[in-house]
Amino acid sequence: MKILGTGSALPKMTLTNDMLTQYFDTSDAWISSRTGIKQRQVMSDEHLEDLAAKACQQALENAGLKASDLDFIICSNVLDEFISPNLACRVQGLINTDCPCIHVNGACAGFIFALSMAEAYLNSHMAKHILVVAAEMPSRMVDWTERGTAVLFGDGAGAVVVGEGSQLKAMRLSTKSAIDCLYQKQYINSTPFDTQEANKTSSLQMDGREVFKLAVSASMKDIKELLADCQLKQEDIKHYLLHQANTRILDSICLHLKEDKSKFHQNIQRTGNTSSASIPILLDELHREGKLQQGDYLILSAFGAGFSTGSCLLQW
Ligand SMILES: CC(C)(COP(=O)(O)OP(=O)(O)OC[C@H]1O[C@@H](n2cnc3c(N)ncnc32)[C@H](O)[C@@H]1OP(=O)(O)O)[C@@H](O)C(=O)NCCC(=O)NCCS
Repeated sequence: MKILGTGSALPKMTLTNDMLTQYFDTSDAWISSRTGIKQRQVMSDEHLEDLAAKACQQALENAGLKASDLDFIICSNVLDEFISPNLACRVQGLINTDCPCIHVNGACAGFIFALSMAEAYLNSHMAKHILVVAAEMPSRMVDWTERGTAVLFGDGAGAVVVGEGSQLKAMRLSTKSAIDCLYQKQYINSTPFDTQEANKTSSLQMDGREVFKLAVSASMKDIKELLADCQLKQEDIKHYLLHQANTRILDSICLHLKEDKSKFHQNIQRTGNTSSASIPILLDELHREGKLQQGDYLILSAFGAGFSTGSCLLQW
């Protein structure tokens, strides 16, 4: 697999930490020091498919391809206005093409899971060009009276077009069922035969400290295993693009690895945690800024609800 083009889109509304103080008892000082986040972009009058389609158009343009060149669209997404048809089907309509579309919900690790599926389709010659898009609106998952979670998230979309190539050197996926630390249930219709109590929970539930520990240990394990898989050393890696969940999580991983902090790219200060969209958004920004040079080794590593992790090592 090779990444042929990247794209991203963020909602137009900027929500600063100071603005959040009108909704609950919090402060810029608390949010900045505990998370690194200063502001995030959140959806107001936009629809998620429009953001996703914008990221996809950019990725196609960047790859020098037309939507009609695509053989498959894989969309990573947790929450969408529609349960069915999935977001990928609506994005396909907006970018005006007719290839098969599928949706994957791997929570914050979903983009890497989607990339692994793209790699499998390419390897089996079922497709030549695949659009992998992650589009998320976690701002609509949290309870806006709950300061513990509402401050953490932002919305956005990131996309890549992939084709045949040898950029992907290794990939690691893992899931260890650990539901209680991070989950959200949805309301489902009851029936005359239903004997269970209706779901009362409608917003994201999180044990922040547990998630923090799981994220640090899982991502470190993945990074070490990827290096061993490729017989590379840490000094060979030029860029770490980790899921932008919390600056302290990233700093902690960097510290444990005794790595140079400048290799751990961050945009969380501006975006908040955009779930599975965070890595492709960051990748697109670095790519457009010209920070990725041919031959550079990159590690992408994501973690989230499940508890699932997805990491890969690429040579740009
Ligand atoms: C959420 C997180 C920032 C909380 O930081 P923490 O240091 O663990 O803080 P705690 O939850 O222990 O709360 C400490 C205090 O801050 C308070 N607090 C929580 N959110 C607050 C906010 N937004 N503003 C001000 N105070 C807040 C708590 O009520 C608590 O007060 P108390 O001591 O009086 O009870 C941190 O646990 C974290 O980042 N976890 C990972 C979350 C994550 O990345 N999730 C997504 C994964 S994909």
